[in-house]
Amino acid sequence: MLKDRHLIEPEDFTVGELQELFELGDRIIESPEKYSGACRGKLLATLFYEPSTRTRFSFEAAMLRLGGQTIGFSEPGSSSVSKGESIGDTIRTIGCYADIAVMRHPKEGAPLLASKKSVIPLINAGDGGHQHPTQTLTDLMTIRRYKRRLDNLVIGLCGDLKFGRTVHSLVKALSRYDNIKFVFISPNELEIPPHITDKLDKDQFEITQNLEGSLGKLDILYMTRVQRERFFSEDEYLRLKDFFLLNAKKMEKAKQDMIVMHPLPRVNEISTDMDTDERAVYFEQAKMGMYIRMALIMRLLGVE
Ligand code: CP
Repeated sequence: MLKDRHLIEPEDFTVGELQELFELGDRIIESPEKYSGACRGKLLATLFYEPSTRTRFSFEAAMLRLGGQTIGFSEPGSSSVSKGESIGDTIRTIGCYADIAVMRHPKEGAPLLASKKSVIPLINAGDGGHQHPTQTLTDLMTIRRYKRRLDNLVIGLCGDLKFGRTVHSLVKALSRYDNIKFVFISPNELEIPPHITDKLDKDQFEITQNLEGSLGKLDILYMTRVQRERFFSEDEYLRLKDFFLLNAKKMEKAKQDMIVMHPLPRVNEISTDMDTDERAVYFEQAKMGMYIRMALIMRLLGVE
């Protein structure tokens, strides 16, 4: 039962609970009209202390498509946070008005802290360079739909693997399934952190800087942008930002059924000449985000 629970990191839900969520997501995709009144009378609060397009809009769209309503802020300057209110007091107050809340915050651990004070289900919509569990639900839903499985896969993760919270969450989540191999492709400076690889078997992953040389063995390529907002030095960002570029020419080296995913936003790491390649699924992935968030809201609120 997911009713009244928080979602702060991917492991908060068991593999079985995730499976039930994906199956509800499948049913919503099949017949969205059946769910158009599922959350009538319910209110979702979106607390975004950091910019977002996909996560905030997909949560809002999800709640509206379920017949519920939304309130919230997209930048903290317009709330009493700017007067110095603590995150605990903010979430206690939001719990007086809304039935469920979503929080994005630049500080790692802020949604966890808030969840300790929250009287309503709280969903982490991304905390600093740490975790982004609903992007992971989106990613797993996308992989299931295109590859028809969540096991026996070779996945390449390319770009900023140091600061990329979507990567950290996805690796943690996928490593719970059988026979998953990871190829971590990044410049040395943006390598996957040891706290992620420490939990993997040594023969379960490789680390490389070679994108083209890796393409032929991948079932999935998960591209990410270099996270400018997490760099201490602009010069360092400028030096690394264009390290990888995936384009149509390089894709000739990839398997015919390899899919290209990206949590978006993209900056320069995927050329627009890729967008017509049917293996490029990143906009479909963004759409999956809305459906799986519909399923998540329903389950946390305990509505059918
Ligand atoms: N993928 C993702 O988190 O995008 P936004 O930052 O636009 O929400």
